[in-house]
Amino acid sequence: MINREYLEKRDINNEISELSTQEALAEAIENGLLVEVQQLIGQGKEAFVCWGIDKYQQQVAVKTYKLYRTTHRGIIHGTYRTSPYAVIAQFAKLEYYKNLDLHEARLPVPQPYNYAGFSYSMQLIGDEEGPAPLLSDLSKNFIDDPSDILEQCIDILSDMFKARYVHGDFSEHNLLWYEDQVYVIDFLQAKNFALKDAVRYGSPLIPLTRAYRILKKDLNSLLPFFKRLFRIEVDYNEVLNYVIGDIKEKIDKELELQVEVSS
Ligand SMILES: Nc1ncnc2c1ncn2[C@@H]1O[C@H](COP(=O)(O)OP(=O)(O)OP(=O)(O)O)[C@@H](O)[C@H]1O
Ligand SMILES: [Mg+2]
Repeated sequence: MINREYLEKRDINNEISELSTQEALAEAIENGLLVEVQQLIGQGKEAFVCWGIDKYQQQVAVKTYKLYRTTHRGIIHGTYRTSPYAVIAQFAKLEYYKNLDLHEARLPVPQPYNYAGFSYSMQLIGDEEGPAPLLSDLSKNFIDDPSDILEQCIDILSDMFKARYVHGDFSEHNLLWYEDQVYVIDFLQAKNFALKDAVRYGSPLIPLTRAYRILKKDLNSLLPFFKRLFRIEVDYNEVLNYVIGDIKEKIDKELELQVEVSS
């Protein structure tokens, strides 16, 4: 018989046994995402990323979600929290599809390959020697033309906005530098937006002015990095207007409506 007292205690203390890195990698191998593990390349609070080789001998990066530890109940990223394992499996699938959308929109992102269990696999940005460095890893002396890197970052934001996406964590920690090109990674928090604020309940699209706020936050984390490291200063509003392009009219209209409603 199930020991109800034990189950209740476990639920309160939220002692869910976390999948170890080894267990998670063994599962990714079982699920066919990779055949050989090279090295762990990223270890964060929510996920870890491993560099490996898949059955086609391609260099891959496999991102695996760790257990979501929370007592919060309700909707997380559009999924009802049935079990914590179901949630992290949903995260891997969600990020795979956002990555796929951006790849299809021809943005410089890794090509996503597959998802299974708590992981998804994608093209390794890098080569047999290993993964490319993050912008945050670059040393000032190593870079010939930092303003070219900044221009590339701004163009990515602009192309993403045209594809109706905002990244939400667009910083030097999620931008890779490989063969003189900037690549973006880490898409779980990226959002697809509508060209108006009125979105129907349950829609996967976020309202336009919410996307605009996220974009402003992204610019606010990107520009100070270039100022700090390379002493490059650009006009924030000029860049913002460049990134939003023709969508500016629609944003202004929605912002005006908000003022009318609140006054
Ligand atoms: N496709 C890839 N090619 C090369 N390196 C990658 C790739 N994807 C991820 N990485 C490396 O793994 C790290 C973590 O990836 P990501 O940013 O997607 O996860 P995260 O959840 O933010 O984890 P962290 O908290 O460690 O940053 C990155 O900082 C990067 O160095
Ligand atoms: Mg990251």
